[in-house]
Order: sequence, then structure tokens, then C-alpha cells
Amino acid sequence: METKSINIVLLGPPGAGKGTQAEILKDAFKLLHLSTGDMFREEVKAGSEIGKKLAEYMNKGELVPDKIVTDLVIGRMGKPDAKSGVILDGYPRTGAQAESLDKALKDSGKRLDVVLYVNTTDEVVVKRLSGRRICKACGKIFHVVNMPSKKENVCDICGGELYQREDDKPATIKNRLEVYVKSTKDLIKYYRDKGFLYEFDGGMQKEDLFKAVKALFNKLGLLNK
Ligand code: AP5
Ligand code: MG
Repeated sequence: METKSINIVLLGPPGAGKGTQAEILKDAFKLLHLSTGDMFREEVKAGSEIGKKLAEYMNKGELVPDKIVTDLVIGRMGKPDAKSGVILDGYPRTGAQAESLDKALKDSGKRLDVVLYVNTTDEVVVKRLSGRRICKACGKIFHVVNMPSKKENVCDICGGELYQREDDKPATIKNRLEVYVKSTKDLIKYYRDKGFLYEFDGGMQKEDLFKAVKALFNKLGLLNK
């Protein structure tokens, strides 16, 4: 389905299902999916010096400093494949990042169309993150109970090996939730005040969530057909 150029921010606690929904939206509306977490994990996998530094923050569930994240995201948004619209998954995460994004969009003549706030409870978050498995090769996200792969530890899409994220250990999950409340939750008010924010129950089935998002896009006139 074709869309007008749309820029989306996905906001919500760790494990709410942002990445899972972003993959569906990306395919349905032909958008670029920019997940800061995925970009950082690629850098960690490459074993670069910056990757080592990033892993220190991520493995503790702490935020990476604003400047590093912002330079990465804004740089990437300037590439040609971002022209038809992006899904920002995991960015912004602090007030300073939100202001940097506003400025970058304004400077490049773009606008933010919608903020999808995918909300859920701590209980759901803990269950989702502790059961998450990801394909080492293609990044496809599974869950041992909710979305199991057909063959244990093997990706349905590419046959790659599934792994558990380093920051999906119980102690780190707890800190990530605390960091979310401390640093990111205020963005809900920031975007609500600007009139961009739409809240969804992340506890829904991923297909139902997609239907609700699509209905919103229709209502907002973001779809061409
Ligand atoms: P990041 O990778 O962004 O992690 P996060 O925000 O904690 O979110 P997650 O990726 O854990 O969860 P998700 O909402 O994408 O859920 P998912 O779809 O996988 O960031 C990691 C780290 O990078 C941060 O801690 C920080 O250090 C750093 N970082 C990143 N961005 C930064 C920034 N802007 N500033 C500073 N630092 C930054 O789903 C979870 C599980 O649930 C899966 O197993 C899935 O199968 C299952 N599931 C999903 N949806 C459903 C559903 N509807 N029903 C049932 N199960 C579902
Ligand atoms: Mg994610």
C-alpha cells in the first residue's frame, strides 16, 4: 500500500512490541524502519571501538549519551531511502533527543506526522522480554510462547540461529523499566501537548494492533488508497 511520505515515532516501554509492530508497518506502508537499538547492536556485533562502548551502556540497561544517538539517527534520516518516510523505533528517548529531532525535521523541511504510543504493563513487559528470541542472521523477532519459531532456536524466515539479547536478563529488564520511567515517560506529555500522540494497548495481538494503527492512518488522511 502506498502512503504519502510519513514520519512516525514509536514510543513505549521496553518490550511493548515496538520492533514487532515496526516490521509490520514497514512492509505494509514501504517505510524505512530505524531502530536505534538494532543499529547499536549491529555496531556491537562488528566489534568496533564504539561498539564496545555502546555495549557497556546497553548491557546495564542505561541510555547511550544523547549526542551519539542523535548524530546517528539524524545522519541516517538524511539518506535518500528515508525520503518516503521513516519509523523511528526507540528514538527519541529523552527530552533533549525530542528537541533535536524537532530541529532536524524543521531544518530539512520535513514533519513528524504521528507518535504511536504502545503502552503495556510491567508484568507483560517482563514476560515478553524474558521469552524473546531474535534471529542472529536476519533480526526477525520471536517469543518462546507468544510467537514461537516452528523449530526450536531456528529462524522460520532464513534458518538462522536464534539468540537471547544480553539486556533481556531479569536484573537488566528491571533497570530498563526504571530508566524508561525516569527518562522517557515525560515524552508522552511532550507529544500529547503537541497533538501528535495516539495511545494503543500493546497487550493486543500484533495483527489487531496493526488494524487499529491502519484505521488511525486512514482517519488522519495518511494513506493514498
Ligand atoms: P531497544 O532495542 O530500543 O530496546 P527497548 O526500547 O528496550 O525495546 P525492545 O526492543 O526491548 O522492545 P520492543 O518494544 O521493540 O518489543 P519487541 O517488538 O521486540 O534499545 C536497547 C538499548 O539501546 C537501550 O536500553 C539503550 O541502552 C540503547 N538505546 C536505544 N535507543 C536509545 C536512545 N534513543 N537513547 C539512548 N539509548 C538508546 O517485542 C518484545 C517481545 O514480545 C518479543 O519476543 C515479541 O515476539 C513479543 N511481542 C511483541 N508484540 C507482541 C504482541 N502484540 N503480542 C504478544 N507478544 C508480542
Ligand atoms: Mg525493539
